[in-house]
Amino acid sequence: MTKIIVMTDIHITKRRHKIIGLDPFLRFQKVYGAALRDHPDAALVILMGDLTHHGKTIQYQRLRDLLHDCPIPVLPMLGNHDIRENFREVFTDAPADGAEFVQKIIDLPNHRLITLDTKDGPFGHHAGRLCVARMDWLRAALASADGRIPLVFMHHPPFKTGIIGMDNINLENGDAVLDLLAQDPRAHLFCGHIHRTISGSTRGVAWTMFKSPCHQGVLDFQDPDSSLSIDEPGAYGLLLLTPDGVVAHSQDVGFTHEIQRDSGSATH
Ligand SMILES: [Fe+2]
Repeated sequence: MTKIIVMTDIHITKRRHKIIGLDPFLRFQKVYGAALRDHPDAALVILMGDLTHHGKTIQYQRLRDLLHDCPIPVLPMLGNHDIRENFREVFTDAPADGAEFVQKIIDLPNHRLITLDTKDGPFGHHAGRLCVARMDWLRAALASADGRIPLVFMHHPPFKTGIIGMDNINLENGDAVLDLLAQDPRAHLFCGHIHRTISGSTRGVAWTMFKSPCHQGVLDFQDPDSSLSIDEPGAYGLLLLTPDGVVAHSQDVGFTHEIQRDSGSATH
């Protein structure tokens, strides 16, 4: 069974610059380290965007240096906090779709992994969009999957979660993307952006999203402030690719509790 480590919303800053009192570099180092330690047999690490906090070249360099000796292939994606040109300046072998977008297809025996670039507009524009060229690319990627199960990764969710601050800056043409994905009922969509572990289905498409290694989103359905954040444990996602589908786990890192056996019960 193929394992894939998924991490999203890393938000690397310049040295000593913190977000709500947390150092994103140290947090990523800790969560990434735990994921590699516990799953050295993973086939791939996917970084689902917001690699940096400000899209600065120095921030991409810090991330590149941290990843340089990763024994597992790393597949980076972009989010609203990224700047494509600065990213490419540092990650010179990054995925390219033939146009300017950071998109890639990876074929496995039973699955087709499709990573999308939902970054839209200049830095500071936080909503995402798949333009006509990227929609055409996705349509072709799905049509040529040759029977493989499509696993699609995009930073911006093309659906609403109820967390209104983030729903206001989700994927602007989400319905069109979902209607395309819904044509294959086996497709599963993975997203970031919200900094929370959430799952559901929308317009016939099953989806899962993961927490950040650093600051997390807040379960608040009233406040429209999209910067609301909380210091909860960082996490990584772990996908198990089964012959007929996918299982998505989320693992918190950084809590102090130890794993224990409940001797008074056969199960929990
Ligand atoms: Fe983020």
